[in-house]
Amino acid sequence: MDRLVIKGGVPLDGAIEVSGAKNAALPLMAVSLLSAEPLELRNVPDVADVGSMWRLLQVLGAEARHLAGSPGGLVLHCPAVLDRKAPYDIVRRMRASVLVLGPLLAREGEAEVSLPGGCAIGTRPIDLHLAGFERLGAEIDLSGGYVRARAPNGLKGAEIRLSQPSVGATENLMMAATLADGETVIVGAAREPEIVDLAHCLNAMGAKVEGAGTARIRVEGVPRLGAATHRVLPDRIEAGTYAMAAAITGGRLHLKHARLDLLGAVRDKLLEAGVRLDQAEDGFTADGSAGLQGVDAMTHPFPGFATDLQAQFMALMTVARGASMITETIFENRFMHVPELARLGARIVVQGNSAMIRGVDSLRGAPVMATDLRASVSLVLAALAAEGESEVNRIYHLDRGYEGLEKKLVAVGARIERVS
Ligand code: UD1
Repeated sequence: MDRLVIKGGVPLDGAIEVSGAKNAALPLMAVSLLSAEPLELRNVPDVADVGSMWRLLQVLGAEARHLAGSPGGLVLHCPAVLDRKAPYDIVRRMRASVLVLGPLLAREGEAEVSLPGGCAIGTRPIDLHLAGFERLGAEIDLSGGYVRARAPNGLKGAEIRLSQPSVGATENLMMAATLADGETVIVGAAREPEIVDLAHCLNAMGAKVEGAGTARIRVEGVPRLGAATHRVLPDRIEAGTYAMAAAITGGRLHLKHARLDLLGAVRDKLLEAGVRLDQAEDGFTADGSAGLQGVDAMTHPFPGFATDLQAQFMALMTVARGASMITETIFENRFMHVPELARLGARIVVQGNSAMIRGVDSLRGAPVMATDLRASVSLVLAALAAEGESEVNRIYHLDRGYEGLEKKLVAVGARIERVS
């Protein structure tokens, strides 16, 4: 199994190109199932989760190919759906596979998707997706570990109230509603930038979606969607991660294509912690040379502090002056990085869904391993700041969501090596 060997203590300096957002690319790829005409996507990151979605779409009948001469260019074309079943073997590798449910149901009147089951960061049910499909007139049946949704006479527009602003449920229902008969209103919708990106793409294909980015999304159903070309928005989580890499090493990084407005409350917390952030036309710069101050943070749906940056921010706080408290409100079990950070010398106490951190003068290298994508990268950040050598194990998690992580970091001065 591959691992990363990291020699810490080098302030990072230079520029990093931020990739397209994984969490936008996955639903955008699923959109290709809604139309018989080709969908051309640009700026798709080359990460393992995109590979999983690619394989799933092929199983369902889509043709997928890279766009010649355009890194990150992808053409997906599904003239006819050949299979309506997303198998366990793919869904268990990537929860976002459930995003094919809405498009398949809308186009075919029937879909079957393996239940994703538990994951490292909590139980993560899909009840809100299913209740929403029922509101649109689908019959839902759970058996043999699969969810089967049927709407033989097509979906009918309806008002759907989400009790929680679930990103995946908002996306799944928004996609399904584009081909439903009549008007759908999603109340209490998630407002993440990836949802706005998805709405832009759907509208370019001929859908009528309004209000994405607000808590009330209105979709007027249309009989069919056509072809489109769409550029995936930059990855705000990757940008935030590298901004924190600059900060934790006391360095300075220019993050090409990245947008501060997509960071929401994370931007404010970084500023409060003493990180300088400057937006330029082609990206923003993060400068951590002034040192770090402990600040409290609590995760919330967008534009609140992103749960996907919580672990990285905790790594930062382990070497800040003073104490801080980080509270996780989105997922119930998202502190698996804590004992691993402690192995590097961090002082953290967890109580319920809060972690109390006392900043230390320096971390010390050690072998560590992680259980999910963002926890893994928080260990990479901590190792970049630690004195001596660290080994980060189980990095297949990183490959799920960070394109060329070590290559990008080596180019700005980090001493990282991947060993098999
Ligand atoms: C997406 C992101 C993930 C991010 C998360 C929260 C993708 C591919 N993944 O995941 O990186 O961490 O948003 O920003 O975009 N919930 C239910 N029932 C449901 C659906 C969700 O109870 O049917 C709960 C979840 O358990 C969780 C909360 O709602 O506690 C938010 O989950 P959700 O926004 O749906 O996350 P995902 O879309 O799975």
